[in-house]
Amino acid sequence: MPAILRPVVLILLALLSACADDQRAPVPSLGPSTPADPEVAEIYNRSCRSCHAQGAAQAPLTGDRAAWAPRLEQGMEVLLEHTISGYNGMPPLGMCFDCEEEDFAALITFMSGSGG
Ligand code: HEC
Repeated sequence: MPAILRPVVLILLALLSACADDQRAPVPSLGPSTPADPEVAEIYNRSCRSCHAQGAAQAPLTGDRAAWAPRLEQGMEVLLEHTISGYNGMPPLGMCFDCEEEDFAALITFMSGSGG
């Protein structure tokens, strides 16, 4: 092929494989996308949202109850422990270095859609 077309073909291939990688079905109905408590919302927006609003690196999506159900089954203790110490792609403290344990508990309750 003409050399000038090569980058175009590469970009098309990259786009195609990006689609193929994302095998998760779109989530039709998510809960509220921002916590009701403004303080928790502020932390969520600056620390957790970038990953948990779009499933970056397989993060469970905010409000996706099905994705959170097996995680909630571990119990809040374990979820807090994984949030504070990190867990696979989940960075320690979820990048919120001034968060308290109760902030994390509120965030987890919100993100998992178990807050009612
Ligand atoms: C850099 C991306 C990123 C950020 C920022 C992030 N997370 Fe995560 N989080 C992940 C990923 C990826 C997982 C899935 C880890 C796994 O199960 O392998 C995850 C999983 C979790 C889990 C489930 C852990 C378990 O035991 O199943 C909780 C709870 C959690 N995150 C809370 C938070 C909170 C709270 C914040 C903000 C303070 C946050 N995360 C910010 C990427 C992120």
